[in-house]
Amino acid sequence: MRRFYVTTPIYYVNDVPHLGTAYTTVVADALRRFHALDGADARMLTGTDEHGLKLERVAKERGIAPKEFVDEMSAPFREAWPKLDVAADDFIRTTESRHQTWVQDLWKKVAANGYLTLGNYEDWYCVGCESFKTEKELEPGNICPLHKKPVERVKEETFFFQLSKFQQPLLDFYASHPDFIQPEGRRNEVLSFVEAGLKDLSVSRTSFSWGIPVPGHPNHVMYVWFDALANYRSALQGADSYGDLARFWPPYAGGEPVTAGRVLHLVGKDILRFHAIFWPAFLLAAGYTTDQLPTQVFAHGFLTVDGQKMSKSLRNAVNPVRLAEKLGADAVRYQLLRAIAFGQDGDFDHGALLERYNADLGKNLGNLLNRVIGLTVKNFDGKVPARGETTPLENELSSEVSKLIEAAKAAWFAVEPHRALEHTFAIAALGNQYIDRTAPWALAKRTAPEDRARFGTVLATLFGLLETLSRLIGPAMPTKAAAMRHQLGLDAVVPTHGESQVPSGLGSIAEGTVLRPEGALFPTYDKDQIKALLDELVPPKEAPVTEEKPAPSASEATPSVAPITAAVPTLDESLPAVDYDTFAKTDLRVGLISHAEKVPRKDKLLRLEVDLGEGKPRQIVAGLALTFKPEDLVGRRVLVVANLAPRDFGKGLISHGMILASGPSEALILPTIDASVAPGSRLK
Ligand code: MSP
Repeated sequence: MRRFYVTTPIYYVNDVPHLGTAYTTVVADALRRFHALDGADARMLTGTDEHGLKLERVAKERGIAPKEFVDEMSAPFREAWPKLDVAADDFIRTTESRHQTWVQDLWKKVAANGYLTLGNYEDWYCVGCESFKTEKELEPGNICPLHKKPVERVKEETFFFQLSKFQQPLLDFYASHPDFIQPEGRRNEVLSFVEAGLKDLSVSRTSFSWGIPVPGHPNHVMYVWFDALANYRSALQGADSYGDLARFWPPYAGGEPVTAGRVLHLVGKDILRFHAIFWPAFLLAAGYTTDQLPTQVFAHGFLTVDGQKMSKSLRNAVNPVRLAEKLGADAVRYQLLRAIAFGQDGDFDHGALLERYNADLGKNLGNLLNRVIGLTVKNFDGKVPARGETTPLENELSSEVSKLIEAAKAAWFAVEPHRALEHTFAIAALGNQYIDRTAPWALAKRTAPEDRARFGTVLATLFGLLETLSRLIGPAMPTKAAAMRHQLGLDAVVPTHGESQVPSGLGSIAEGTVLRPEGALFPTYDKDQIKALLDELVPPKEAPVTEEKPAPSASEATPSVAPITAAVPTLDESLPAVDYDTFAKTDLRVGLISHAEKVPRKDKLLRLEVDLGEGKPRQIVAGLALTFKPEDLVGRRVLVVANLAPRDFGKGLISHGMILASGPSEALILPTIDASVAPGSRLK
């Protein structure tokens, strides 16, 4: 039996579930669903990372016990993922006793093998990373390059893990298991890092107590990464209805070769080193052999949202659960899986999501289903017709579909969900082309028996194609796949151990199957709806932040307003004071941008149409083009000086007002205005 075990990182509970963590979790779920569909005994694990100095400090600042804090903060993760249709088989918390006892056992094995020595340590520590830093890695002023915060000097008694002893064994392991680290570019980075030499690692702390106690040394708690990484194995204790969970860890039970199964750790690129270096080293030190190590660590890139780096406040602003409630879990999953090449950095763009939804899901797939069901209801009493004699056209379609399925399948195996979906939707496009070429609506008008038979064959072929698609989209969009099958008169696919249900070619639906039409599978959004959704969902532009900002302090851990990071200039004293009456003459209004376009040959200018509640939008020409793309502005609320004398920009281009913004031309910030403020509202 082929086994497949996929894990996500366990998430620190000082944060809320955000789009970055949702990303890995959705990819893991889709992979597990694909492998289960393919007949594998598949399992997915996620969970929360609940120890360490960072969490102890946040709890202290909140004035509550660490355990109370982590209990409260872990729940949102457990509750969030099912709302994105993620069906993890297990959710592990590092404060659970099943985990603690396993980690202590691991520690004892490493100690018994002589790889832990007691000593004194002094070095720089970044609490954000929960990691020691060498001077070389720091920016001037002892700043962590990732967190942009000063590191701390740590000096205490500690256990050292002799990581240096594993430099050569790790290099040998990487050489004999070239797929262990993916993608290739990341593998090379890790290789160079290890080749440069590994320093022994401090793996216990005495200056705080929120961690797993070191066996025999109760004044020491384990380094949080020693504890956290072990979750992938500690969760495999006990049994499910198919047997012992240890069957998911290599070497596999029953003498199956290592290749029969797969342990796949999905991680962000920032935590690859911990997984590719520390984790196998800890296991080797505990006596694991190289064929008992995980099969692969796959590092993905970082997401930006609408072109903005995901700072802490932005992470809070873009809530994946809220998005799923608004647009449906399947639409969010589709965007995450299809729009971002797994392994590379990518942008989660709300506008692109809606466009892609309309084009791929609404038009390409949804319309195909609708057209075929509609024609059948009208002409065959809503029952799947017989598939008669086929022509070279059907044979050609069938062979193209088989090739695309092969490609999609290979992509799922290679952890390339974006490609798998690209190939899957190419099948839908083939279906639409086939309709255009066979023109069934024309056949419907003819009554000769051979035309009727041909009409039936065309529809039956299309039903086969739709059946195939309903299986292939399942891993990415489980709810819509089941809904699609329901409309096609089919039951949902139930994964079965040992039996692949991934189609191998054009499928079929039995003649006479009664359809259950239910209207559009993916109702499309019109322009106004898109505008309204973007207005509601797109977070306001933030000042450009260059750093990633995990939050070690309580004030940052609770949802906060966007930090103002742009330099604040001092007030301009050369400007004269303005008396109230003069100021009161300025008519400041809230405007809603309804249209935006570039002004030809003027790099800085955009021509905007802005609704000020006057019945008809006004034209305003604004120097926003170096910061904003026109499409980013449509649907945004802005502050407008409404009674500024009209200004002529040449060639009849007249601006009737001015938009207020702050910052340099290429990094402007527009004030944030609540969506409930009506266009035309006056500021006083
Ligand atoms: N607790 C550790 C992991 C321990 S695993 C044994 C941790 N937790 S985390 O909550 O800080 O980060 C979890 C994951 O979120 C990481 O894989 C990180 O790469 C990912 N992301 C954080 N911001 C992200 C984006 N903007 N985009 C994509 N992933 C991002 O590290």
